[in-house]
Amino acid sequence: MELVITDSAAEAGVLAGRIMADHVRRGARAIGLATGSSPLGAYRELIRQYREEGLSFAGVQAFLLDEYLGLPPDHPQSYRRFIRDEFTAHVDFADSDVHSPDGNAADIPAAAADYEQLIAANGPIAVQILGIGTNGHLGFNEPGSSLRSRTRVKTLTPKTRADNARFFAGDLAQVPTHVLTQGLGTISDAGHLLMIATGTGKAEAVASAVEGPVSAFCPASILQMHPHVTVIVDPAAAANLRAVDYYRFAIANKPAWQSY
Ligand code: GLP
Repeated sequence: MELVITDSAAEAGVLAGRIMADHVRRGARAIGLATGSSPLGAYRELIRQYREEGLSFAGVQAFLLDEYLGLPPDHPQSYRRFIRDEFTAHVDFADSDVHSPDGNAADIPAAAADYEQLIAANGPIAVQILGIGTNGHLGFNEPGSSLRSRTRVKTLTPKTRADNARFFAGDLAQVPTHVLTQGLGTISDAGHLLMIATGTGKAEAVASAVEGPVSAFCPASILQMHPHVTVIVDPAAAANLRAVDYYRFAIANKPAWQSY
């Protein structure tokens, strides 16, 4: 695992975007996208590279981590709509190449299995960008999620619903209770996991995920079991880490030939 502490949240987003762009330039068949506010800076950098540096997503398949159950697909807070509005509609992604679990399917377990099959048929996902919930969730894998779980329905915790109410005009009643999410096993199949976390609200979750025990109670601690992980944090999100000096030393002395 590589821990990068940037000087600012803006710098964290640019670095995450650059790492994703490198994967696309190297010929990634599929990339994994995430919603929430954490990846927005990375998406802005990718859009900038598309406009100014010829980065192209033509032929790349994109897979979202998760989706709310029961929101109409055109609801502004459906993740299907969110990712198009914030990222894929601004670059040359074909809409049909941007995939998400079907939160409106009549048969939800079948929709979960279908999503797994779609990823398997189009993968492997070269790089998966990730945020982290304040309770350590990845995607919508809430505390207690099996470390080897696959795409399935999950019930959101009251904490996550409260955290996400800001996207629903602060109205908790509007936040769905259930979701479809890639499992921790599904996420772990990606070649490179790239987590971005900024702000003091994430400091405790980041420290648990990176330096705490591997535990289903902190789903993001599954990162410790993956062979290729980059965690990008700003100083606020790094505040609870114990080995900050070592992480900074390792980046300052990173061999010139070594990429992220
Ligand atoms: C959401 C998403 C996650 C995201 C997390 C943090 O509920 N399902 O993928 O990483 O919570 O969100 P934010 O980045 O807005 O803090």
